[in-house]
Amino acid sequence: MSTGNYSFSMTKTSNPLSKPPPNTALGFGKYFTDHIAASDYSDGKWHTHRIVPYSNLSMDPAACVYHYGQALFEGLKAFRQKNDKIVIFRPQFNASRMAHGCQRLSMQAPPEDLFIQTLAELVSVERDWVPTERGSALYIRPTLVGTEGFLGVRPSNEYLFFTLLSPVGSYYSNNHRSVRIWVETEHVRAAPGGLGAVKAAANYASSLYAASEQKKRGYDQVLWLDAVTKDQIEEVGTMNVFFVFKNEIVTPALNGSILPGGVRECVLHLLREWKLPVSERKITMSELKEQYARGEFLEMFGTGTAAVITPVGELQHKDFTYKLNTGGETLSTRLYEEITKIQYGDIPDRHQWLMALDK
Ligand SMILES: Cc1ncc(COP(=O)(O)O)c(C=O)c1O
Repeated sequence: MSTGNYSFSMTKTSNPLSKPPPNTALGFGKYFTDHIAASDYSDGKWHTHRIVPYSNLSMDPAACVYHYGQALFEGLKAFRQKNDKIVIFRPQFNASRMAHGCQRLSMQAPPEDLFIQTLAELVSVERDWVPTERGSALYIRPTLVGTEGFLGVRPSNEYLFFTLLSPVGSYYSNNHRSVRIWVETEHVRAAPGGLGAVKAAANYASSLYAASEQKKRGYDQVLWLDAVTKDQIEEVGTMNVFFVFKNEIVTPALNGSILPGGVRECVLHLLREWKLPVSERKITMSELKEQYARGEFLEMFGTGTAAVITPVGELQHKDFTYKLNTGGETLSTRLYEEITKIQYGDIPDRHQWLMALDK
């Protein structure tokens, strides 16, 4: 994995925070570490690479991000293995997904080696913040925003690339027990030709209303359908989805409006390695109903950096409730175990998914 050769300045905090004690319920994104990393882009180049104390950002009120929403982010994790070895899971994947998003949003991508070096430098500085408990990790949030101040509608010529860190536990408050999902039939997350396939902040803005309405009714997340037929399954707010049928495991094929998830890619890789019949194809709610009626819809789970592998216990589509298998010897448990064993170093990293930091 190529980390760059950029020179970072370091300003240490004079006011270090106390770290959450072991066994604190970390939740997701509640705690932040002492420092962030940042680089600026202007006059056609990236410069002023720095690690500085966590503090407010100062920006022109006319900055492009505030008005025209040029904002992209990434999410990945660092883990503490035995002997205090710290590893970052697949940083190259996230670097290239951000670069792809930059094309779609006409933004200036940080070079991949700068992206990876930034993560490595910042996590090294904050290595004591990587939690020790199994299931916990240091979540890494690289973010890119257009900072140039102007009001004519056009892409920004100036950018800020910054990364912050948050020690996290389980994404869902129920600690990887199963989740309840509402199939959204009124609002849409993304349309063909739109932004769905990139990690644009705008996609999350458009998903918040439906997700919070359903949260009030006791659902953890919504499952998004395609914008045209409202029958094809796309993804959940923060996860890609897999369906386990009697003779086939299916995940929706990437159709230009689904975010290509990193964990989705790992799961496909493992299932193929295990010689299980997995397909990336179109899957509709109508097919799901038929499979369920035949007793052949066995399991559903979501995949994502934050959610890892999260089984779906209940899926509500209009007035029909799917009750799904979540206990015992499920495929989702087998995948969860395999991926987390690689992340925490219990089994060899046979796919070169981990980038180890120097001590
Ligand atoms: C909309 C959406 N889909 C899918 C995913 C899963 O992507 P990844 O596995 O790269 O975390 C995420 C999570 O980050 C997401 O926000």
